[in-house]
Amino acid sequence: MPKGPRPLIAGNWKMNGLAKPAMREVTALAKHLDKAAGKQAFDLLICPPATLIAPLRAGIAKLGLTRRIRLGGQDCHASASGAHTGDIAAPMLKDAGCAYAIVGHSERRTDHGESDAAVHAKAEAAHAAGLIAIICIGETRAERDAGQTLRILTRQLKGSVPAAATARNTVIAYEPVWAIGTGLTPTAADVAKAHAHIRKRLAARFKDAAGFRILYGGSVKGSNAAELMALANVDGALVGGASLKATDFWPIALAVG
Ligand code: 13P
Repeated sequence: MPKGPRPLIAGNWKMNGLAKPAMREVTALAKHLDKAAGKQAFDLLICPPATLIAPLRAGIAKLGLTRRIRLGGQDCHASASGAHTGDIAAPMLKDAGCAYAIVGHSERRTDHGESDAAVHAKAEAAHAAGLIAIICIGETRAERDAGQTLRILTRQLKGSVPAAATARNTVIAYEPVWAIGTGLTPTAADVAKAHAHIRKRLAARFKDAAGFRILYGGSVKGSNAAELMALANVDGALVGGASLKATDFWPIALAVG
């Protein structure tokens, strides 16, 4: 990976995981980290379902890895508290031990009809709670086929990324919707083009644009991670399916470390 921001390897477990097997995977990750002692040149993040944040936080603390394995939420509400049954507020994530919150994942945009404005409000809520917001953007297959990819990214960046975003409180995740969970990935040239475009759009708004981490997500696995992570402006990965098992996740981390 060319020199740039410190890479972030993030696992999005989505709606998967029960406490005991989840802790076994984290313990397995810990063993890999131990073996690579002192060489962790990347930030490692797990975004488990909300029910697992507290037990994983305790388990990770017990392993002495609180600073080496960070935790994040998969979503947060735009309000800090209130009558919103089933939702989770950003200060609650922070309180439970999270450092990050994913907002605007395409599954939330689709399943819950989240607009760019809603994602913007959630990112602001994450920031207000002291969390790093991982703001997801990405085009659908139809948008790609219509040659709209860069236009969509521009629109989503403009609508979803708050004015107060900085390289310290915000990460952008480029996840082409059609690449998520499908085994399909864009070509390296297409990923490079999208990431260069995202950097350029960030540079038009933010002085510290060069420091923002721009993650690629969508069918990242051990076999394609090295090629993707070596691209300019790719500062890590947001991994779904391959983050559930340490044996699949660790080789992706090694691709940047
Ligand atoms: P997959 O890695 O399973 O394609 O999921 C990507 C993703 O949506 C991560 O947020």
